[in-house]
Amino acid sequence: MIQLPSSLLPIIKTLLDKGLRPVVVGGFVRDAILGLPSKDIDIELFGIKDLEALETLLAPFGKVNVVGKSFGVVKLQLDAIEVDFSIPRTEQKVAQGHKGFDVILDGSLSFKKAASRRDFTFNAMGYDLSSKELLDPFNGQKDLRERRLAFVDAETFVEDPLRLYRAVQFAARFDLQPTEALITLARKMVAEKMLEELPKERVFEEFKKLLLKSRRPSQGFRVLDIFGMLPYFPELLALQGVPQDPIYHPEGDVWTHTLMVVDVMSRLHSDDKEENLYLSLAALCHDLGKSNTTKKIDGRIRAIGHENTGVPLTEYFLERLSDEKALVEKILPLVKHHLKPMQFYKQGAKAAAIRRLANQVNISELVLLAKADYLGRTTLEARSGEFEAGVWLIQRAKELSVMQKPLPALLQGRDLVRAGLTPSKQFKVILDAAYEAQMDALFSTKEEALLWLKQYINEVY
Ligand code: CTP
Repeated sequence: MIQLPSSLLPIIKTLLDKGLRPVVVGGFVRDAILGLPSKDIDIELFGIKDLEALETLLAPFGKVNVVGKSFGVVKLQLDAIEVDFSIPRTEQKVAQGHKGFDVILDGSLSFKKAASRRDFTFNAMGYDLSSKELLDPFNGQKDLRERRLAFVDAETFVEDPLRLYRAVQFAARFDLQPTEALITLARKMVAEKMLEELPKERVFEEFKKLLLKSRRPSQGFRVLDIFGMLPYFPELLALQGVPQDPIYHPEGDVWTHTLMVVDVMSRLHSDDKEENLYLSLAALCHDLGKSNTTKKIDGRIRAIGHENTGVPLTEYFLERLSDEKALVEKILPLVKHHLKPMQFYKQGAKAAAIRRLANQVNISELVLLAKADYLGRTTLEARSGEFEAGVWLIQRAKELSVMQKPLPALLQGRDLVRAGLTPSKQFKVILDAAYEAQMDALFSTKEEALLWLKQYINEVY
């Protein structure tokens, strides 16, 4: 059932020969049962005396690194694979509150006792490499089969409040429903403000898994809501109950539509490469501006200008989620221009407008977002799976060579110097005017550009 990399087998043999009991634990076992690939391998070593003994045993096999003495983990680097070996541990309550625990390392613990500090039942399984059997003391396999997201132990669960964000992403990745007991516990943890101490980097890592590793992130966002965690993301909360025109959005309010768009985006970029993250975040944020622009005008629900008011809202939302400035910079123009593919298609936009758009945003990415927006509804057109406006814009952008990047400027500062001008602040004004003229197709070769420049200098100076 469990397929370990062959480079690990001699180590396992040595451990078994020494009478120790290595047990593969955590995500690797869960993923094997689900038939999913998994890269991190965690092995708990039962029967081991202490950390030094573990280190000494592993040292001949590769580079070893003790991480956090108190956690009893030794990392072993085996070519490209990193394996965490750990000493079974348990926690003992020493004080009030969710942080009042002492970690006790103890190689003689039973598997069940050691597994009882884990977060969810399906993460508390083990594969015993000595007996070659699955250890499942908390019925994780049954929970996976019956699509249940259940904690192992309420008392140890609250120890790490990040587990609520883990619940959110696991629910989406493995299509699970939280149990009533988990929902009650989660709401209690939220009410006791336990989540407020979490560093945003850790929370963001869970968001990444939610958006990149699941086919339907909407399930995770629904759990976020059920747990009462949405008030931590006021820009998302504000989308609930915001109405939309039933002709364009028969699916319902902006929140419902947004979750559908995020799901479609997950299908469109389809693999979990980190570089796709901004596309999913753009999908999540694309309509944030509807919360402050939606009005009834002449009997119809409109959200005029939401693509613009959504930009600062997206910025606030993302800044609290992550410090990755470059990521935010990529998302903002997508939000700002997300209506353009459809508008341009309907108006039959001219080449100059398409070139100008390419100067603001990557057209192929924008089309992906607009497509997710178009398909993330329950209209008849959306069911076709086709997005004609996107096909049209991509073709035009290809013809104009601005699909992936803006038109390269034909004139540079050095051309102005060659034309006899002295560098000054004026250079920017001239180069901007030249670029505008180029986008309007007033010239398209270097020679024509230099002629245009001569004329421009004569006229203006
Ligand atoms: N674990 C836990 N509580 C946490 C983090 C981890 O109980 N807050 C336990 C779980 O048993 C988990 C294991 O440690 O399976 C390894 O955790 P980690 O590597 O963070 O995640 P995985 O469960 O392996 O999942 P992923 O596929 O997301 O890496």
